[in-house]
Amino acid sequence: MILLTGGAGYIGSHTATLLLNNGYDVVIADNFYNSTPDVIRFIGQITGKVFQVYNIDVTDKDALAQIFICNPIEAVIHFAGYKAIGESVQHPVKYYRNNIDSTLSLLETMNEYHVNHLIFSSSATVYGQSPIIPIPESAPTGHCINPYGWSKYFIEHILTDTANVSSNMSVVILRYFNPIGAHESGLIGERPNGVPNNLMPYITQTAAGIRNILHVFGNNYPTRDGTCVRDYIHVMDLAQGHISALEYLLGHRNHGNTEIFNLGTGKGYSVLEVIKTFELSTGIKIPFIFAPRRAGDVPECYADVKKAARLLGWSSRKTLADMCIDAWRWQEFCLKQHI
Ligand code: UD1
Repeated sequence: MILLTGGAGYIGSHTATLLLNNGYDVVIADNFYNSTPDVIRFIGQITGKVFQVYNIDVTDKDALAQIFICNPIEAVIHFAGYKAIGESVQHPVKYYRNNIDSTLSLLETMNEYHVNHLIFSSSATVYGQSPIIPIPESAPTGHCINPYGWSKYFIEHILTDTANVSSNMSVVILRYFNPIGAHESGLIGERPNGVPNNLMPYITQTAAGIRNILHVFGNNYPTRDGTCVRDYIHVMDLAQGHISALEYLLGHRNHGNTEIFNLGTGKGYSVLEVIKTFELSTGIKIPFIFAPRRAGDVPECYADVKKAARLLGWSSRKTLADMCIDAWRWQEFCLKQHI
């Protein structure tokens, strides 16, 4: 049985559907801070499977212990965490307290109940402005520009230190690039709180008429068309990356080990290319204007994905057009449901 902390969130919910459809037993721990219980219903609808859900805060060790007492947990995928970058700058203590505390509570509880396999949701944000592009896992980390990024960086170190001194523990750290898109059913997807900060939700909300116009942040970067280049990856490809990482973790007996993998496509697209692809694949025009650069944006960020291909046998399959179509299908569903 696999425990997903934050399993009702964007990436957690998509991974849950794939785990269930691959025959894994799943238990979800989520306090619905940044998600809603109807996601659970839709995971059930997509998979036709029944699974346990615990409405708990992962920082709460007693509540967490109950899950390990009542279920034969083999491995944990730790998605739970705060992720709003702007808010992390305004409320750093809240972010460090929650993201680091939940990880420490989880590690202590896993240790107590002899559960030794852990997958952690990290982010390409730990690379900051990488001197090497495409970015390999061996590229320098640190130089994060916000507490959210630092919390990922610190947790990576906490996990590595813990696995180093434990003869039983093995950890996989997954560094996500830019996850976008939604489940093909259109029933689950990303639900930003308020005005979206990220590009794809802003595009779909502009297409839906919720936002008037998209601001393209910067058109004088040293890239092919002057706008920033990112490695956008379909959230279902990302979910499949977790299954591959889990199989790797459960199939290897090299305890006391931490492996880090980039999950990206290895291809970079500019903001203008994303807009164009969205327009071509959905037939909807996106009004946009150029605006000043956004603080903290690096010109180019895309993954070297050779390690995941070699060791996990995983690589992305879906195109940018697939990502746009699925993101739009999800936005249309939200409109219909008034969510
Ligand atoms: C951001 C986070 C990163 C996080 C990731 C998760 C920052 C600096 N980085 O990545 O830590 O892991 O989200 O999804 O916030 N853009 C516009 N107009 C918009 C929104 C975005 O032009 O309204 C541009 C941005 O300038 C950027 C690109 O679109 O060049 C992608 O932006 P975004 O989707 O926010 O992702 P990142 O900044 O790459």
